[in-house]
Amino acid sequence: MSEVKSKSAAFFEAIENRRSYYNLTKESPLSNDQLKEIVQKAVKFAPTSFNGQQSRAVLVTGKKHEELWDTVLEAYKPTLGGNKEQEAFWTDKIATQYKAGYGSVIFFEDQDVINAFAGKMPFLSQHFPIWSENSAGILQYIVWTALEAEGYGASLQHFGGFVPQVQTDVNKLLDLSPQWKNTAILPFGVPSGPPGQPGKGEKTFEPLENRTKFFFD
Ligand SMILES: Cc1cc2nc3c(=O)[nH]c(=O)nc-3n(C[C@H](O)[C@H](O)[C@H](O)COP(=O)(O)O)c2cc1C
Repeated sequence: MSEVKSKSAAFFEAIENRRSYYNLTKESPLSNDQLKEIVQKAVKFAPTSFNGQQSRAVLVTGKKHEELWDTVLEAYKPTLGGNKEQEAFWTDKIATQYKAGYGSVIFFEDQDVINAFAGKMPFLSQHFPIWSENSAGILQYIVWTALEAEGYGASLQHFGGFVPQVQTDVNKLLDLSPQWKNTAILPFGVPSGPPGQPGKGEKTFEPLENRTKFFFD
């Protein structure tokens, strides 16, 4: 048991250290090539249902990263019903918490691949979209945790999921097939402050006794 624990210690250290960071800077401990390697490794080794490999990731830094967040803001604003206070709030939040970072990893699930699998296995067709979301989460988590192990902070954002115009405009900006469905955006950079939503206080944990069960017989 203790041997298993020590072999997985580095893995669990990375898991424990992964948090949501909202105070990002443009500092980058890794080169762009090293960042590319992290994203490629994560995409290669993240599991997918039936090894479908439908998950996609796009890494943007510099001007493209800034254009990405300008695009998200412009597509998001019309959903705020002309509320100037809300527009100012989101303009500031996007600028200071996401665009302020060094780069972003944008995640997608290729619907062409998912639809092909669903077509081949009609008896499972309703499950493929769910497994696709599960696969997306696994990939996002690997990249998020790896970046934080390298000294970055990051947060997971879902504008594309609930604002169709964000999805459309982001794909257009990055010249991607409309079949690439945006699942999340991970803005990252070296953090300038502690983890967690500003003003939210310490992260709390529900008792594990209520969340786990064990049967050793
Ligand atoms: C599936 C999922 C969706 C999330 N969506 C968002 C989001 O849209 N915006 C955001 O700021 N954080 C989002 N989060 C981050 C959670 O709020 C955060 O992980 C949680 O509060 C625990 O805090 P920690 O990440 O610091 O450990 C999401 C996390 C998960 C797993």
